[in-house]
Amino acid sequence: MSVSVDPSFLKPAQQQPAQALRPHAEHAFAAELTALAAQDDRPRPPRWKLSPWGVATYLLGGTLPDGTVITPKYVGSRRLVEVAVSTLATDRALLLLGVPGTAKTWVSEHLAAAVSGDSTLLVQGTAGTPEEAIRYGWNYAQLLAQGPSRAAMVPSPVMRAMAEGRTVRVEELTRIPADVQDALITVLSEKTLPIPELGQEVQAVRGFNLVATANDRDRGVNELSSALRRRFNTVVLPLPESVEAEVDIVARRVDQIGRSLDLPAVPDGITEIRRVVTVFRELRDGITSDGRTKVKSPSGTLSTAEAISVVTGGLALAAHFGDGVLRAGDVAAGILGAVVRDPAADRVVWREYLEAVVRERDGWSDFYRACREVSG
Ligand SMILES: Nc1ncnc2c1ncn2[C@@H]1O[C@H](COP(=O)(O)OP(=O)(O)OP(=O)(O)O)[C@@H](O)[C@H]1O
Ligand SMILES: [Mg+2]
Repeated sequence: MSVSVDPSFLKPAQQQPAQALRPHAEHAFAAELTALAAQDDRPRPPRWKLSPWGVATYLLGGTLPDGTVITPKYVGSRRLVEVAVSTLATDRALLLLGVPGTAKTWVSEHLAAAVSGDSTLLVQGTAGTPEEAIRYGWNYAQLLAQGPSRAAMVPSPVMRAMAEGRTVRVEELTRIPADVQDALITVLSEKTLPIPELGQEVQAVRGFNLVATANDRDRGVNELSSALRRRFNTVVLPLPESVEAEVDIVARRVDQIGRSLDLPAVPDGITEIRRVVTVFRELRDGITSDGRTKVKSPSGTLSTAEAISVVTGGLALAAHFGDGVLRAGDVAAGILGAVVRDPAADRVVWREYLEAVVRERDGWSDFYRACREVSG
């Protein structure tokens, strides 16, 4: 017997407080999504808010016929986004894979917002994620009082997405213990979630799909079983291919974050952004950007995401304690914190890099001095 979907079964989507510190994508970009929905005349898969073209445009940015500008959310390969979006229109789930800070979480949130208008159906994968987070749990007071019943059941985000024909996100899939991961196999292959206690099942309605993220560095923590991996199309998100691309990403995100936090505007941050990105890339790659000098890599990941937080921290310093211009002194402490994770080994790596590369570089003397000052 199948469970029909009655609205009481589904908890209403959370109301967004006006002053949310970090609004969900569908709220933060509501105007863009509305404009896209109004002008997108291409066919939409069942229950999709936009056509696949509309979703890709939302992610990559563009200008609509009426002149509305859609800001790029993901800066990178168009093809990659197209593959991700079209996967969601099939019966295969999507796995976003990549090293830390390559926008896996960010892309999955925006995909869910654009496809289903709701990015909040989310399972956060950890070593302690229980099977209830993927299947369903019970309200024990009601269970004891009345026995197993629909009313006593607490559906997981996955179950709700199936019943409502929406997108559910599973973050950090490979951190979830293998036996719990396996609960997804039936969901993804049979598109059903059995409820043996009630002799019922919840069948996925059209529009249901799942976006999972996993970190390359977590490999070996809990490998995906091959049975589960076969249910996914995998899209690998790469690190930005050039300094320019990474500077562009950092500048855009820092600007957005600064505005959402109401930080006073700080003009001309681009010089420091370029230096932070250059330093991170060189340390990550183990070689200077001119290809001449080999350098040692520290233990941290030095991802784009970390560059974004170093610059955002620097902007706050410049705005509140500096002269309103982002200077080397405002980012130096943040860089040191990101680079020196292991106090002994990383400090040596950092000092060597400062002396061998930064000190000699034309036009970087202020940056060298600022870094020396905080490095002690
Ligand atoms: N190519 C990119 N385009 C746009 N934003 C990017 C890009 N790469 C990184 N970012 C930014 O980096 C930040 C961090 O991304 P996110 O948290 O999604 O990374 P992640 O891949 O999930 O990392 P982790 O593996 O640590 O969970 C976001 O603010 C995102 O906007
Ligand atoms: Mg993530």
